[in-house]
Amino acid sequence: MQKILIVCLGNICRSPIAEGVLKSIAPKNKYFIESAAIINHHQGSAPDSRAIQVAKEKGIDISLQKSAPIKDSDFKYYDYIFAMDTDVLNSLIEKSPKKFHSKIKLYSHFQFPDMSIEVPDPYYGEKKDFESVYDMVYEMSESIVNHIK
Ligand code: 4NP
Repeated sequence: MQKILIVCLGNICRSPIAEGVLKSIAPKNKYFIESAAIINHHQGSAPDSRAIQVAKEKGIDISLQKSAPIKDSDFKYYDYIFAMDTDVLNSLIEKSPKKFHSKIKLYSHFQFPDMSIEVPDPYYGEKKDFESVYDMVYEMSESIVNHIK
């Protein structure tokens, strides 16, 4: 079982979409997938209504997800910890012991291994920004499933 944690700042926009997409395309018997936040501000909240709507239009229900901040124990438990942008990646590196740093990668890593491609924060944007997050995350998720067997 490959244990994968997807992290963004609030765990209400980008990482819930990525969790929904990755769960929809990854083999269920081989992947355990969760998502988490850097900040605890939205703890217990469902995803942003725009994220729920965009995922719903693609046939994915993310409405039952709940935001939760990453825990210290997650760095040991998960095999891969994916960050949506470099600020999140840097926060994860700061929060964790050095021995776990090799688990921490950008969500874009397997699609663009030699570039620091970020999934931009759509929180202050519009629905079209959530659609572009969905499209980016979908391609990155396909690359993840192709690389992590
Ligand atoms: P996310 O978006 O990191 O993709 O969930 C955000 C959600 C909330 C905030 C920032 C980004 N916020 O500042 O509350």
